Amino acid sequence: MKITIDGKEIEFQQGETIIQAAKRAGIEIPHFCWHPGLSIAGNCRICLVEIEKAPKLMIACSTLAQEGMVVNTKNDKVVKAQNAVMEFLLINHPLDCPICDEAGECKLQDYAFKYSTGISRFDEEKNHKEKRVELGPNVMFDQERCISCSRCIRFCDEIAKEPQLTFVNRGEKVTIETFPGKSLDNPYSMNVIEICPVGALTSRHFRFKSRVWDMSFTDSICPGCSRGCNTIIGVRNNEILRIEPRENQNVNQWWLCDYGRLETIKNTNNREKRITSPSILNTENIIGTENQIQTDWDEAIGNTVAILTSYKDDMLFVGSAYSTLEDNYALMKLAKTLTGREDVFYIPRTDESFGDDILRKSDMTPNTQGCKLLGMKELTEEILAELKSKKYKSVFWMNNDDSLIANAKEYFRDVETNIQVLSYHGILSSRANVLLPLSIYAEINGTFINFENYIQRLKPAMTTIEQERLIGQYEMSRLDKFGAPNDSWTQGTKFNARPGWKIIKAIAKAMNIEFDFENSEEVFSELCKEKFGLDNFDYDSVGSSGYKLK
Ligand code: SF4
Ligand code: SF4
Ligand code: FES
Repeated sequence: MKITIDGKEIEFQQGETIIQAAKRAGIEIPHFCWHPGLSIAGNCRICLVEIEKAPKLMIACSTLAQEGMVVNTKNDKVVKAQNAVMEFLLINHPLDCPICDEAGECKLQDYAFKYSTGISRFDEEKNHKEKRVELGPNVMFDQERCISCSRCIRFCDEIAKEPQLTFVNRGEKVTIETFPGKSLDNPYSMNVIEICPVGALTSRHFRFKSRVWDMSFTDSICPGCSRGCNTIIGVRNNEILRIEPRENQNVNQWWLCDYGRLETIKNTNNREKRITSPSILNTENIIGTENQIQTDWDEAIGNTVAILTSYKDDMLFVGSAYSTLEDNYALMKLAKTLTGREDVFYIPRTDESFGDDILRKSDMTPNTQGCKLLGMKELTEEILAELKSKKYKSVFWMNNDDSLIANAKEYFRDVETNIQVLSYHGILSSRANVLLPLSIYAEINGTFINFENYIQRLKPAMTTIEQERLIGQYEMSRLDKFGAPNDSWTQGTKFNARPGWKIIKAIAKAMNIEFDFENSEEVFSELCKEKFGLDNFDYDSVGSSGYKLK
C-alpha cells in the first residue's frame, strides 16, 4: 500500500498513521503530544497536515494512512497552522530558557525556531502558576512551563502501570496533579522527565547542575540488572551527572528504571569509597587491622606475581558478573595458563523483590549470562566453605561486593594471602595483600551479555589518569575541547585505576607470559573466536544496539 507525502511515494502497513509512515521515510512532522511508545492523545495540534480532498487540515498523529492518500506537510496552509499553534502555546509559556534545565534539548525551543514566526501578538501579563511542585522523590514540576500534552499522564497509566498523574482544572488554569496526599513515586517515575517535551518536569537530582551543552554524552549500558538497558551517560568535569535512556526496541524500548539512573552512579566520584591507589599490606596479614600502604603499580604488580608464584595451585580465582566479558576472559586465561584449570567463579546476585514484568530483572548483575557463556562457575556456599577448610589458601578476587556474602569475614579468616582488584572499598579490602584499583564500568571499553543473550557495548564516558582510548571513541564536551586549563570547569577528579584485562595482562607480562591483546577490542575479538566461535568479530560487529548470540 502506498501513500504520497510531500511528493514522495511511501510504502505503509495497514494501521499505520501518517506520522509513523512519514517518520520511517525520514520526513519530519512536528509533534509534542505524540510519542511512539504511548497511546495517541491528539491534543497539541502541531502535527496538522493537509490531506487532498479533506475539507480541513488533519492531525498526522491520529489519522490513519490510506491507499492513494496525498499529504502535504509543508505548504502555506500547513505552515500558517504551525505558526498559529506555536503562537498559542507560547502565549502563557514563561521566558525561562536562560534558567531552564531543558534548554538546549527542548522541543518547544527547537520548534519555536523551526515552526514559529518569532513574533507574538500577546501583550498582556502571562499566566502565573506554581513553579516548584515536588511531584515525587525524584521529579519536580513547574506548572507554568507545562503545555498540557498529557505524555506524563499516559506514561504513568500505560507503561509504569501506576496512574499517579492527572489533569485538573480547565482552559488556561489546567495543570497536572497527583491525588491529594499521594506522590509520583514508582520505579519508573523519572521517564516522565525525558518524555516531557518542555522543561516542566525536571530531575530533582540533576536540576541546575549543568547546561547540557557543557556536557559530553556517551552511549553505555546500565549495570543495575541483567536487562542491560541502553543508556546515555551525561558527564561534566569528569563526573556523571545524569543517566538517560537510549532507545533499543529489543532491550528497553525508550525507558529506564529509577534504580538504574540513580543507584548505579551513586559513588562513582566518591573519593572515600573509591580505591585511589595500588596498595600492599606492609606486614603479615593481621586480621582486623588496616595496615596497607599505598604504592605504585610496578611494586603492587611485583607483589602480586610473588603471591601467584607461590600460591597458584592453591588459589581460588573469583571474577565477577559485574565485570565485562573482556576482564573475565583475561582472568580465565591467566588462571588457565598458571594452573591448567579454568575454574574461575562469579558471584550471583538475585533479588526477587527487584524484578517486575516491565524492565527490571531479579538477576541484579549486568553480565551473569556472559559469565555463564564464558564457562565460569557460580561461587556456591560449598566453594566458600572450601576456603575455611583450607582447600584454597589464597584468593584472586576481582570486582566483587563482599557485603553481598553473608559472613564474608568468617570465610576469609584462614586465607593466607589474597589479591583484590576492586573499584570500591569493601569489608575485606583492608585485608588485601595487594589491592589494585579497577576502573568502573563508565571508564572503560567492554561488553556485557544481557539475559536474552544480547552482547552490548560499554564505552568510556569518564577518563582515568591512564585512559584507555580507542580512536574516535571518547566523547568530548564543548568544555573538554575548548576550555582552557585555568577554567575551573575543565577540572575534575581522575582516578588512578585501570581496566581489569589490562591489570591482568601486566601481571602476566611480569610472569613472562605474553598475552596477544593490546586493547579491549583485541581481547573481545580473541574471546569471541575462542569462546563463541565468531571469527573476525569486533566492536563494530556489536554496533550500537547489540548483537544477539545464537
Ligand atoms: S508536564 Fe510535560 S509531559 Fe506532562 S503534560 Fe505538561 S508538558 Fe506534557
Ligand atoms: S531495568 Fe535494570 S538495566 Fe534497566 S535501568 Fe533498571 S536496573 Fe538498569
Ligand atoms: S502530535 Fe498530533 S496532536 Fe500532538
